[in-house]
Amino acid sequence: MKGVILAGGTGSRLRPITHTGPKQLVPIANKPVLEYALDDLKEAGITEVGIILGNKGRDEIQAYFGDGSDFGVDITYIVQGEPLGLAHAVGCARDFVGDDSFVVYLGDDLMREGITDLIKDFTSDEYAAGIGLQEVEEPSRYGIVDVNDTGDVIELVEKPEDPPNNLALIGVYVFTPAIFQQIEALEKSWRDEYEITEAIQGLLDDGNRIQSHVVHGWWKDTGKPEDVLHANRLVLDDIEPNVRGTIENDETVRGRVQLGEGSVIEENAVVRGPVSIGEDTVIKSGTYLGPYTSIGDSCIIDGVHIESSVVVGDSEISADRTIVDSLIGRQATITANHDKKPDGERLIVGQNSSLEL
Ligand code: DAU
Repeated sequence: MKGVILAGGTGSRLRPITHTGPKQLVPIANKPVLEYALDDLKEAGITEVGIILGNKGRDEIQAYFGDGSDFGVDITYIVQGEPLGLAHAVGCARDFVGDDSFVVYLGDDLMREGITDLIKDFTSDEYAAGIGLQEVEEPSRYGIVDVNDTGDVIELVEKPEDPPNNLALIGVYVFTPAIFQQIEALEKSWRDEYEITEAIQGLLDDGNRIQSHVVHGWWKDTGKPEDVLHANRLVLDDIEPNVRGTIENDETVRGRVQLGEGSVIEENAVVRGPVSIGEDTVIKSGTYLGPYTSIGDSCIIDGVHIESSVVVGDSEISADRTIVDSLIGRQATITANHDKKPDGERLIVGQNSSLEL
């Protein structure tokens, strides 16, 4: 069985973070979201993986994952181009998957318990497709599914205004090639996209059975900044300590900490895990890094109190301030204004930024 990861789209809900790269490369505990999907496929025994690319971030994704050999998989890149919808993206994988059943994994989704059980559960001689489901709090943000007592799907609807229940499609699907006929017959939806939810509904309408599998561990769609911060907390909750850099003073570092090669936690910096720090980053004396914080590669963090936040990388933060629940994009600079003339904050704020002062 082959796997297909959808990594197109524009990442508009994650701007300005996605001005400097695709949303699938946003790091969660210093690992791109897309790498978690790749790991899940590999764990389920799937090593032939097609990655669907849009126009945005295409080169960065290929540069990071290469041919997949560093990640223990064999990657084929398939260009979708314009984001015409999930069904269109799946349709682009037709030649790649051939005549077998295949798994589709949305490249901005994250799952604690992986997808092995979901795939094992799927029986292609009885069902035309299998879908992963989980109860959610905001059903109108997702594809919503009605199932019967045996777990067979009765109906699907994409982002309903008036959701019939709160059982959402989590973004992992197993398809037989029958899906391609349905995709060909689709028309664009009210949001101008070819919806995979409608293609699956088409399978049902033609008398096929669709299997559902409720996923129990946490699942997160990292579409919005608050989702990235939440996913970061969930992943950090499970990290193992791993120190490859230098901790100058063990007394000031507590809890589970990951520290990448070439990084330093200086003598008088205080770190309270769970915290993940990338490579070649310096946490200067006088800094406090609180729980649920991830700091990316090549950063200088100096004198700031920062917790429950994600700093993507290549940034300098040296303000004597407290930063909480924040997502700080690549190459950001946050410094102190010691002159305070005129009195007030000095800001250089890019397009689509969001600040709470
Ligand atoms: O996260 C679960 C939800 O994902 C499901 O409940 C919905 O039924 C499903 O439609 C999907 O909704 P989203 O609005 O979250 O999809 P999004 O546009 O974020 O796209 C998901 C992934 O697919 C993301 O990695 C980008 C990629 N994509 C998206 C489009 C529209 C493509 O590769 N090509 C595309 O044309």
